[in-house]
Amino acid sequence: MIDLHTHPIPGIDDGVRDEDEALELCRIAVREGITTLVATPHMRTDLFPNDRDGILKGVERLRALLRREEIDLQIAPGAEVYLEPDLIDRMRAGHTLTLNDGGAYLLLELPARHLPAGVDDVIYRLRLAGVTPVIAHPERLLPLQEDPERFARLVELGALGQLTAGSLLGQFGSTALRISRLFLERGLVQVLASDAHNSANRAPLLREALAQAEALIGKEAAQRSVHDVPRAILAGEEIEVAMEPGEEPARRGGWLDWLRGRERE
Ligand SMILES: [Fe+2]
Repeated sequence: MIDLHTHPIPGIDDGVRDEDEALELCRIAVREGITTLVATPHMRTDLFPNDRDGILKGVERLRALLRREEIDLQIAPGAEVYLEPDLIDRMRAGHTLTLNDGGAYLLLELPARHLPAGVDDVIYRLRLAGVTPVIAHPERLLPLQEDPERFARLVELGALGQLTAGSLLGQFGSTALRISRLFLERGLVQVLASDAHNSANRAPLLREALAQAEALIGKEAAQRSVHDVPRAILAGEEIEVAMEPGEEPARRGGWLDWLRGRERE
């Protein structure tokens, strides 16, 4: 399996604390059956001001550490890039880091509590620039939990979605669990990844969530989310998205219907 979203580089974000924990996280990944970890440190000006060069150096350090310890795990470079007003400019200037540094896919983190007005425009402009945004854990974002159709529109604009394994196990609450199932069944999320931050309560584990996904959308489709799709993303190949249509909006009940009923009486 390929784990497309992880934080295994020590000391550059809120991921692993030190080299020992990085090694422990990587050993867990190997035991889980993961062959490639995509290291996606946060890239966010106010909290984690990482740049492309710094992350690439971190990936090299981690690879050297794994060689020294004879841990058979591939590390691909990436970043979890926070949506900021100058994102497109920074990307054009080469400061951001795309997945596998391939220029085709960018793991995009949206604010958790509000959706900026310009988000559609950013997705559109990224696509124009030949970059497909992969939205990190949409099921954990409050505005998309409250309005799941809003996420469907982002996917219609050309974004992909990455579901976090723990969300399917209820680790981020019952709402994230319900929205995870909805997004999976609608085909709005195409990648399952761990978003591992440490070796304890947020480790690189996929199997249990994968079994849940298989029960929901079938074995073949679920397996694609940890094999074919992330592999295609790292190779910069195109991915076809098969969205299921949403349900008709529920008929409004309540006092208005009651009133209309009375009028007919
Ligand atoms: Fe993350």
